[in-house]
Amino acid sequence: MSETSKAQAEKRIEELRTELRRHEHLYYVMDAPVISDQEYDTLMNELKKLEMEHPELLTEDSPTQRVGGKPAEGFQKVRHSRPMLSLDNAYSEEELRDWDRRVRELAGSLPVEYTAELKLDGLSLALHYEAGPHGSARLVRGLTRGDGQIGEEVTTNVRTIRSVPLSISAEHLKKAGVPQEFEVRGETVMPQKAFEKMNKDREAEGLAPAVNPRNAAAGTLRTKEPSVVAQRRLDVYAYFLLTQGEYVAIGQEQTLDALTALGFRVNPHRGRMHTVEEMMQYIESAGKRRATLGYDIDGVVFKVNAQATRQRLGYTGRAPRWALAYKFSAEQAITQMYDIMISVGRSGKLTPTAMLNTVFVGGANVSRATLHNADWIERMGLKIGDWVKVERGGDVIPKVAEIVEDAEHPRGDRTFVYPKVCPICGSAAVREEGEADYRCVNVDCPALLQGAVENWGSRGVMNIEGLGEASVYALTTQGVVKSVADLYALNEEKLAALTEEVERNGVKKRQRVFGPVEIKKLLKQIENSKHAGLARVLMGMSIRFVGERTADVLAQEFGSMDDLMNASAEELERAEEVGPRISRAIIDFFARPANRELIEHLKRAGVKMTAEKKQRTTQLAGMTLVLTGTLPNLSREEAKARIESAGGKVSGSVSKKTSYVIAGEEAGSKLDKAQELKVPILDEAELLKLLEKEVQGPETGD
Ligand code: IVH
Repeated sequence: MSETSKAQAEKRIEELRTELRRHEHLYYVMDAPVISDQEYDTLMNELKKLEMEHPELLTEDSPTQRVGGKPAEGFQKVRHSRPMLSLDNAYSEEELRDWDRRVRELAGSLPVEYTAELKLDGLSLALHYEAGPHGSARLVRGLTRGDGQIGEEVTTNVRTIRSVPLSISAEHLKKAGVPQEFEVRGETVMPQKAFEKMNKDREAEGLAPAVNPRNAAAGTLRTKEPSVVAQRRLDVYAYFLLTQGEYVAIGQEQTLDALTALGFRVNPHRGRMHTVEEMMQYIESAGKRRATLGYDIDGVVFKVNAQATRQRLGYTGRAPRWALAYKFSAEQAITQMYDIMISVGRSGKLTPTAMLNTVFVGGANVSRATLHNADWIERMGLKIGDWVKVERGGDVIPKVAEIVEDAEHPRGDRTFVYPKVCPICGSAAVREEGEADYRCVNVDCPALLQGAVENWGSRGVMNIEGLGEASVYALTTQGVVKSVADLYALNEEKLAALTEEVERNGVKKRQRVFGPVEIKKLLKQIENSKHAGLARVLMGMSIRFVGERTADVLAQEFGSMDDLMNASAEELERAEEVGPRISRAIIDFFARPANRELIEHLKRAGVKMTAEKKQRTTQLAGMTLVLTGTLPNLSREEAKARIESAGGKVSGSVSKKTSYVIAGEEAGSKLDKAQELKVPILDEAELLKLLEKEVQGPETGD
């Protein structure tokens, strides 16, 4: 082929791609097509033909590549550039007020302005772009949230989502002021129409329908068949923009504008406000709009607009302090309860569950709901056969809110006697003074072991895939695993023998056997879990009151299991958010010889018992400060040294780039300059506060 015809083809291909991208954007993002589907198809076909003739010119970001794609092989796990956090929730005006008050307190002299966005009921997604040809950016990776730290790479599937640009031209990048390498985070949703269609198709194929659009979207993103994903019509609404793992240094409003300029779909419903009254109004109007949106939302997300204010507010363990989700109140339905079932958790806690006639509530079928605790059942005088109001809000586990009693709904007639023995091992269940629940205190209770091993393997803990309820049941009932440490002594022979044994006795319901491939996989997963680190191990120990957040704090503070085990109550309580109740529980836990033995056992097996200490980042990291006047306590040199060791810089003159001016007595012209440029001015006390306050987790990950 002659060079000219190749060059011509190349030129035409570029033209077609640009044109098709423009129409995709108009159609899928703007909902405003300017050509017919047929015209679109004609352009697409021409491009397909040219690419077929010139396979060397085919690129992954070509509009023809949305539907193609080889099926994914299982999903690669990839660490997020910075953790994908969750949001704190509020359910009432009062909680909103509390948050606003806290924000203002912490913001000090910095501006407090809020943006409002809809809380889309889907899954968060991270999209990574890198440098493409001619100064453009191209999509290289799409990651699910996963456990927040590590996501699953679902790029092939994401490529089929039409509202996700596969490439962005140099011109658009320039217009938005964004470099070629960046990351966008947003929410993947399945529109209600697409959901209905999917369920119709599934039913026609004799498959069980998906429960709600959110589950359907989650399932679809993880489908191994990209062409199926393409048919399902997912949408991604973008809300964050990052470069090198940092939020771009512009406010939320500007971020949404930049995302729009880049060609992403940004939800059109957004607001900006200053007061709780305005927020409440926004919530009310969002609630009214809810039914007509065409996709599910479960609340409103408020974010502090200004980046500088956000930086000062920082993070708690799992969520930014600068954002809050106001959740719409739960949906309710009435149904009859035909029984109460008691299960035993890993802490030995007896948990009552209401068995209900199936009812549709909050977007899902509900046939079980939590009944709180023994105390609640007693207080309410709950009877079997009662009609109850079930409540379900978003992802919350359904719960029984109250007993209904009227002409249509007579009271039940069977009194429920709360068991005083453990339903699993039959030993006495104990309810301690002031406690709402009964507990099985038999340390050898199989339920405790089952629960402990399941917890150990779960995603948020040691993340051992394949260690679900049924496998754990097989492992523990056959006596192969008597403690979590025994997992690390498993090998192919033991698991094969276990499988044989189980098969000989007949595989029971809820019991899982392992084939040769599964055995290899499980052993590999167990091996990998050795490196999970101290925080995860602590969560795996099921120490009372020690959840994810506390485990993280403890791991950070003490750095090793040995130091933690030997810490006094006083030392423990020095850690953030650890009070006497938690420190007591920790000390009690380590005082038990069986627990110390378990830790020794795990150590010998090679399970890592240390945490990499995060670099101490304070809120001053990366900021430039200017000192002026005489500070009451700190000398100039001291102040400078402390700011620098906290990662900040000290400069001699005030400019627009100055983050703060620290003013003391007899401050001079620098103070005037700061006022003129509207640079925030702090006194020594405020500076000291900033120096002390460490930014948690999200800055560095763990
Ligand atoms: S901001 C710090 N904005 O809600 C990261 N999240 O409950 C929080 N969500 O995991 C993300 N709509 O999946 C943000 N407009 C919105 C959102 C939104 C839905 C989801 C997101 C997040 C979850 C937290």
